[in-house]
Amino acid sequence: MPLGKLNHVAIAVPDLAAAAQLYRDSFGAEVSQPLALPDHGVTVVFVALPNSKIELLEPLGDNSPIAAFLAKNPAGGIHHLCFEVADIFASRDLVVAAGGRVLGNGEPRIGAHGLPVLFLHPKDFYGTLIELEQVAK
Ligand code: CO
Repeated sequence: MPLGKLNHVAIAVPDLAAAAQLYRDSFGAEVSQPLALPDHGVTVVFVALPNSKIELLEPLGDNSPIAAFLAKNPAGGIHHLCFEVADIFASRDLVVAAGGRVLGNGEPRIGAHGLPVLFLHPKDFYGTLIELEQVAK
């Protein structure tokens, strides 16, 4: 199960409105409206690129999974990479067979694009949190 396209690079930010405006002002970027994802504890915007996206993330609610990251990196920082896959269960099983760990209960959840996603333990991938997203083919 090879990896597909780089779907997005996610950057955690302390102030989403300011970050969206910075991308508009600095790069003339096309930035989406904020999307609250209470199940994931984040609010996101997407910066459109010709070949991928940048996802800007702000904590939402009391138990945001990015709160600890922002406590360690108060100015913000690169949070995860998202790769597209064709079959998220087959990709998960390959990761697990190779010794990688899936975060949470190991089952896909619906992500920011309405598609199934999984997150892989950053300690198993050189300090990088990896999201796998199943895209329709
Ligand atoms: Co993501």
